Amino acid sequence: MSQSPVLEVRGLEKRFGQTLAVNGVSFAVQPGEVFTLLGPSGCGKSTTLRLVAGLERPDAGDVLLNGELISSAATGQHLPPERRHMGMVFQSYAIWPHMTVLDNVRFPLRMRRAGASESRKRVLDILDVVGLTGLESRAATQLSGGQQQRVALARALVHEPALLLLDEPLSNLDAKLREHMRSEIKRLQRRLGIAVLFVTHDQSEAMTLSDRVAVMNLGVVEQLGTPREVYAHPASEFVRDFLGRAVLFEGSVRRDADDYVLTLDGEAGARLRVGSAALPGLADGTRVVVGTRPEDARLLPLDAGVSLEEPNRLRVCVAETAFLGERIEYTLRTPGGKTLVVFGARHEEHPPGTELALVVDTAEASLWPA
Ligand SMILES: Nc1ncnc2c1ncn2[C@@H]1O[C@H](COP(=O)(O)OP(=O)(O)OP(=O)(O)O)[C@@H](O)[C@H]1O
Ligand SMILES: [Mg+2]
Repeated sequence: MSQSPVLEVRGLEKRFGQTLAVNGVSFAVQPGEVFTLLGPSGCGKSTTLRLVAGLERPDAGDVLLNGELISSAATGQHLPPERRHMGMVFQSYAIWPHMTVLDNVRFPLRMRRAGASESRKRVLDILDVVGLTGLESRAATQLSGGQQQRVALARALVHEPALLLLDEPLSNLDAKLREHMRSEIKRLQRRLGIAVLFVTHDQSEAMTLSDRVAVMNLGVVEQLGTPREVYAHPASEFVRDFLGRAVLFEGSVRRDADDYVLTLDGEAGARLRVGSAALPGLADGTRVVVGTRPEDARLLPLDAGVSLEEPNRLRVCVAETAFLGERIEYTLRTPGGKTLVVFGARHEEHPPGTELALVVDTAEASLWPA
């Protein structure tokens, strides 16, 4: 059932002076997929997108669209951007203020010399898709931020591109509108079945929108996988910490059937039981770090019938609480003097000084050598 990818990027490199902005990036975007480049500012996301769009030429590597070579450093081949059959929306969505909505969206068709009546029909269709019907003759400046965003999307989609490139298209919108547009884009993408290469530094945006994510750091893809895979099983410390908080435990392992039992350093014999599949074949006594996410840990009162003798339970003391609106963040101290940060439900706050049992679900835990 292997279908050929819409976009394939092989060993891309781009240098600006001394900066190696993109350093050997390879990935493929499948038909109908939302593929996201996620990473901190300066990691090379926009440069990668611009190489795909043809706005930059690579120093090494190839770009293929539907199996056809459109950029190649080796041969010097370079199809100009306007012939790449891609739609693009930038962070500053750059719609033209002096033009009406209709003319803005019609522009790419003009560039491609499409006929007038055909163009008009396509523009009206795509305006309907993005929910702007009735605003055709408005000047672009008379629109809200969200509406301007939709004009930019309509303009990127009107020539039915093979691939939609989105570079932080939501970062200029306020939080509420951003969330709304996020689900709008997802709905639109499903309806059109179009492949999307999306760029963001916002991990929750990446998680909600993407089928697959490439986590980038310093011009390199550190991990590529589904949002669940990269979140639950980060391949590196960088990925783990970039995608959210981690609750870490350190100790030495002992093999027990298909699991390891990890005796935690300095925690009065407290143990964790974790599956061995993530890091098989460790000799007894090997020191490891176990990483879980804050949502994998629950706080229970000590009198709730919890036996602290069993694995995956730890006696903790509440050091600090912070009210975050939808939940409470707890800073906890372990008997061994370590600090852990987890979340709890808003309606049952445990004040500082309370002794509790921390119950850790290790089903999705990650293991690294210490
Ligand atoms: N035209 C340019 N000239 C010189 N250096 C550049 C140019 N474009 C990008 N860079 C540098 O290349 C690196 C990658 O930049 P890029 O814009 O791809 O990052 P990014 O991941 O998109 O970051 P952000 O999230 O801030 O948009 C940075 O160090 C940047 O300063
Ligand atoms: Mg950028």
